[in-house]
Amino acid sequence: MTSRTPITVPDVARRKRSGGSVPFTMVTAYDEPSARLADAAGVDLLLVGDSVGNTVLGRPDTLSVTVEEMAHHTRAVAAAAPSALIVADMPWMSYHLDPMDAVRNAATLIRAGAGCVKLEGGANRAPAIAAITAAEIPVMGHLGLTPQSVLAMGGFKVQGKTKDAAAKLLADAEAIQEAGCFAVVLEGIPDVVANEITEALAIPTIGIGAGAGTDGQVLVFHDLLGLGNRTPAKFVRTYADIGTQITGAISAFVTDVANGAFPSDAETYHAPKSFND
Ligand code: KIV
Repeated sequence: MTSRTPITVPDVARRKRSGGSVPFTMVTAYDEPSARLADAAGVDLLLVGDSVGNTVLGRPDTLSVTVEEMAHHTRAVAAAAPSALIVADMPWMSYHLDPMDAVRNAATLIRAGAGCVKLEGGANRAPAIAAITAAEIPVMGHLGLTPQSVLAMGGFKVQGKTKDAAAKLLADAEAIQEAGCFAVVLEGIPDVVANEITEALAIPTIGIGAGAGTDGQVLVFHDLLGLGNRTPAKFVRTYADIGTQITGAISAFVTDVANGAFPSDAETYHAPKSFND
């Protein structure tokens, strides 16, 4: 992989398929190796998702993730110095109380190495989005099956399945565009609804479980690579079974140690001849 020109927010903001762009990609990353490997693969954006809560930290959902934890993982991703744009998720309750609190928390993630932040919600989050963008911090929106609303939604359920719900999603998308978002993730909604929103907005849409018509696509690193601990959702394509390979490799190590095949002489340090003088 040759080194790439760093990808900026304006670069992403221009990526509308209707303007002739090919669909772009975002993958989650939570540490230096995942960021380095995904960047080498040529993804456009690395999302330090609050999915770190359930994907890496073994929690049932994202609600317990804190700004400090997001900053910790953002610093690890930034250590890979990727060309991809780093997006850091604002966790639940870091932008819900008052807009100035939201700006301070967004700044913590930018200082940790993010190039922009992402937050969930529609018109109800417009004041927070406007305040953060007024502080020169670019904001990506997130609509549809928003995991931070798991309690209100009564579970992780596909959204926008009625005409009214779809109309509300479109109105929310327009509201957050108006408030200053440069792009928006559309998660877990019917393709026709995602397509309508994509056509209506000037900013790019990034789909996850939203069909093939969005301007970009995002997948979670662990889902894409077969590293998850549960059956992936319908929208996930698992491109590799790395989890099985990891267990196989570690089990070979366990066997080699048990039967004396590891370490070999070549894998052992030897004292210099002078040692016994
Ligand atoms: O946290 C996350 O991984 C996300 C993606 C599902 C878009 O927000």
